[in-house]
Amino acid sequence: MQVSRSLFDLTPIAANVLRILFVCLLVPLVGCATDEAPNADETRAFDEPSRPQFHFSPAKNWMNDPNGMVYHAGEYHLFYQYNPFGEKWGHMSWGHAVSPDLVNWEHLPVALYEEDGVMIFSGSAVVDHQNTSGFGTPDNPPMVAIYTGHEENVRQTQHIAYSTDNGRNWTKYADNPVIDLNMKDFRDPKVFWHDDTDRWIMVVALPREYKVQLYASPDLKAWTFLSDFGPAGSTDGIWECPDLFELPIEGEAGSRWVLEVDIGSGAIAGGSGGQYFVGTFDGTTFTNDNPDDLTLWVDYGADFYAGVSWADIPEADGRRIFLAWMNNWQYAQDIPTSPWRSAQSLPRTLQLRNTPDGLRLTQRAVRELQGLRSDALVADESMRITSEAVIPGAEAELLEFSGTLQLNDATAAGLTIRHGDGDKKTLIGYDAAREVIYVDRTQSGISDFHEDFAAIHEAPLKLADGTLSLHVFVDRSSVEVLADGGLVSITDRIFPEEETHALELWANEGAVDASAVSVWSLNSIYE
Ligand code: FRU
Repeated sequence: MQVSRSLFDLTPIAANVLRILFVCLLVPLVGCATDEAPNADETRAFDEPSRPQFHFSPAKNWMNDPNGMVYHAGEYHLFYQYNPFGEKWGHMSWGHAVSPDLVNWEHLPVALYEEDGVMIFSGSAVVDHQNTSGFGTPDNPPMVAIYTGHEENVRQTQHIAYSTDNGRNWTKYADNPVIDLNMKDFRDPKVFWHDDTDRWIMVVALPREYKVQLYASPDLKAWTFLSDFGPAGSTDGIWECPDLFELPIEGEAGSRWVLEVDIGSGAIAGGSGGQYFVGTFDGTTFTNDNPDDLTLWVDYGADFYAGVSWADIPEADGRRIFLAWMNNWQYAQDIPTSPWRSAQSLPRTLQLRNTPDGLRLTQRAVRELQGLRSDALVADESMRITSEAVIPGAEAELLEFSGTLQLNDATAAGLTIRHGDGDKKTLIGYDAAREVIYVDRTQSGISDFHEDFAAIHEAPLKLADGTLSLHVFVDRSSVEVLADGGLVSITDRIFPEEETHALELWANEGAVDASAVSVWSLNSIYE
């Protein structure tokens, strides 16, 4: 629907009324009742240039952080920061989608709208199985959303809303806010049920104090302050979107708690990014295992922010799955896509690994993504690479690569993707002398929308026996690199202009032995 932006620059309520009238008058066959979903009322092909083909993106308009991620009754819910009225940030509301498998998404109407000057900022959702809130019944436990109410230039407070029909319709709690510190910056509550202390725990950010606070509640309505954590790690940017969860350690008994905190600027690849702390949580306090001046980065690319994990994944499954906003506040509002802006990353399973440096986060693409594979273009092959080698037949717009590179005495090795005319390409490489893995998007395509976009993003990585394992996903406008079994993650948007899809392996000053190389062409989720 093409309505001028200025129409939507009216107050949201007035704009909504006009929008509904517009639809009623001009689209009588569709009818008014169906226009509750500005993000779902389109029959778009989702086939525009740069449109992600296997990452979640809204049909139209602006999206930022993932919110309210919760599994319930066979559905993964993904809510998200959404502007129903434009392609830039504003009028923040919660968009909504559900998926049976974390891969294919059904777009649903906006769940929570801005109202009375209160925007719906980031937050979480839980299933209140014991009906502690009284919003449902024991037989039909309510879904409760806990979010920040944002009053521009006035204050940020914590609010709740509930649904008794699997998240389809929401009622804001009459006695909101449930926490009010009379502060301008106090946001992004993440809530979970803590079995050991038999109560709800909230972790929430005090962005400008570089702190998170913990609160407890018996019923999601009355909250008691427990403790705070920070400043620690990186304080180069404001702290936002915390998450706190327990993770298993790969190949070992035992577990540890992870506190994830995002910083709005000054992250490892420039602009916004995520950091994490590893430690213990005793039901009241999070204690960092590491010195407070150690910063651990969640992802070394530029486009991975506000990562947050799903609540209520059944114990029989047992995974901790999260995803992040695949964009960067540095240039988020200017990336060259329309009529929508932003995508979410691939969902990833989190674990910890015991490394010589201590416990570190690992991220693996969820196994459900294997369902997108069409025939393998290369199936479990070995090859020796000197200089640059196109892998015959490994050509696909949507592509997954998995393989191991033995560097021998080569000084560098890696993959080239989306190699267009001349130097147009994106490199994924390992520099043996500097012991870093990197994504080089300096020549990746459109980059003139921000001076810092064309850059190389690198992560330290020491190889065991000179062997580099790589798992790479290439969508129409993104690349995600998971190296060394997910110990290093680099997520970058790219905007190639040419339709070239060959995959090349390369080696510098030596021969590299590639083994267990598989390449799949992936199906679009819109097919
Ligand atoms: C992070 C963030 C959150 C806030 C939301 C507003 O990207 O700034 O702190 O709740 O976006 O859209």
